[in-house]
Amino acid sequence: MLINIFNVILIILITFVTYKYFALREKSAPSLDRTMNYINGFGAIADRVEGYDSPHAMIMADMAEKIAREKGMSEDEIISLRYAAILHDIGEILLPRNLLKTSEKLDEENLFLLRTHPLLGELQLRNKDFPYDEVPTLVRWHHERFDGTGYPDSLKGEEIPLSCRILALVDAVSAMKEERPYRKKAMKMNEIVKELDLKSGIQFDPELVEIWKMLFLKAQTGGEN
Ligand SMILES: [Fe+2]
Ligand SMILES: [Fe+2]
Repeated sequence: MLINIFNVILIILITFVTYKYFALREKSAPSLDRTMNYINGFGAIADRVEGYDSPHAMIMADMAEKIAREKGMSEDEIISLRYAAILHDIGEILLPRNLLKTSEKLDEENLFLLRTHPLLGELQLRNKDFPYDEVPTLVRWHHERFDGTGYPDSLKGEEIPLSCRILALVDAVSAMKEERPYRKKAMKMNEIVKELDLKSGIQFDPELVEIWKMLFLKAQTGGEN
């Protein structure tokens, strides 16, 4: 008899906890969707401000995710990496538009101004109580270079977090595949590979260059890319 009462209480308790769990999940899912929609929207705005016709930030996010999976990064790290890819140039929204669209070489003053965008982006995201803590930092370091000549902090080699080394690579590759004010035609795959080999160990992490070639040249052979 005692056991039966215990079973009944246990069933009621499990039902109550399950109900609460699903009610809570139902409540939290729409807000997560909203966050993702906002992030995708901001990324699209940044692309338009920069004058891109293609979804540059989204292409970067997809490419970055493939490399991250190959490197065995965790799901949380991959989510942050995707968000950082989508928002990497959000700081450029605050800069004069002619600075972003000119095909002329920038003078020292304008170059300095342009190079503030990783810091502006970081600041914007920190002020917005962003749900993924590390994303503002990843945005700050998306223009660091493997040889230490990048900006804003001149980090070198593995001082640069893996996610930022991935961002630097996919940002450049994505730009090579698109038209830019300074280069009217998109680069062909063999030209991209040549450029990556040339800058491997200088601008880019050499290991990531090899992973990119393994993933995306293979995809091209299979007719995907
Ligand atoms: Fe940038
Ligand atoms: Fe970019």
